[in-house]
Amino acid sequence: MDKLQADLLRGLWYVACPDREIKKGAMTGKKLMGELVLLGRDENGKVFALRDICPHRGIPLRHGWFDGKHVQCCYHGWKFDTDGTCVDIPSTHEYQTIDYSRITCGAYPAIEQQGLIWVYFAANGEKPEDGRQPHPPMLPDFAVDSAPTVDIMQPFVCSVDHAALGLMDPTHAAFVHTSWWFKKNATKLRAKEKQFEPADLGWAMVRHTLPPQNIAYKVLGDDVTTEIRYALPGLRIEHIKGSKHSVVGLTTITPVTPDETEVRQLFWTTMDWVKPLKPLVKHLMNVFLNQDREVVIQQREGLEFNPKLMLINDADTQGRWWMQLKREWDKSQAENRPFENPVQAKTLRWMS
Ligand code: FES
Ligand SMILES: [Fe+2]
Repeated sequence: MDKLQADLLRGLWYVACPDREIKKGAMTGKKLMGELVLLGRDENGKVFALRDICPHRGIPLRHGWFDGKHVQCCYHGWKFDTDGTCVDIPSTHEYQTIDYSRITCGAYPAIEQQGLIWVYFAANGEKPEDGRQPHPPMLPDFAVDSAPTVDIMQPFVCSVDHAALGLMDPTHAAFVHTSWWFKKNATKLRAKEKQFEPADLGWAMVRHTLPPQNIAYKVLGDDVTTEIRYALPGLRIEHIKGSKHSVVGLTTITPVTPDETEVRQLFWTTMDWVKPLKPLVKHLMNVFLNQDREVVIQQREGLEFNPKLMLINDADTQGRWWMQLKREWDKSQAENRPFENPVQAKTLRWMS
């Protein structure tokens, strides 16, 4: 594992942004997976993603114009439709014949579901139609057109590997997430024991009952249970379910470059009364996520020296699984065979 840069997995769907960020008839440029991506929404409301580099002279297309149908480059006015095919070159003289349809800026498969825009980054030579991950994961209990109640994003100056290791690290919370409203300090560590099992492209902390006396869970009804799943290419899905309500929390880590990451936290809920509390909830989520963001800034200073690092049992077992999953994903792709989940069912114990 390189200390500063991560190997970025391909053949997978990545979260680009919440869908409300791309308005009808608008486009915006974003760096994702180390590539320039142009995201847009056409006049009919359909989302698209293009390679944000004009095939003529390389200028990003986001500097040009979009009329809801065609993207026009700002340099010489070449026009592209939303699947990336060139449809017009204004300098073409009536005596010239150019087959525009043979010119393309390149496109990425893009899907809008559950309030998120997902973009597929194909493996080298892979055709989108026989992609390794056919579609992005659907979150349980919420319709395809549902939107997250709250979502936040913070840029992390670290690779997806360190963002992921932090995300699935059960023992840093007592030291990092100390606030007057959460945990004050790390003096009272308690023994934890949880069951884990392999799940789609990752693993799950097996569904278990949450303490019924906890008022925060009581609002969900009786028999409140939770399951936490981790999946490639960097998703944590927590599904809390009671007899009356459900909450799904999603954390996504999307590589901007091999050493910069966008971390998003979102949640969906069936409890409408949460909506007026949005500003407060958002603030608390930002405080919490910022604690993780500040740690990776401090960590980077040490990582610049390329130190030898350790993953210990059982606290870092999930971190180990993450690295094994990544290796197997790349290996199975290189060997052109199906992915075999390397995670075995296991009970993990730690103090936190
Ligand atoms: S660089 Fe885009 S049209 Fe010339
Ligand atoms: Fe954290």
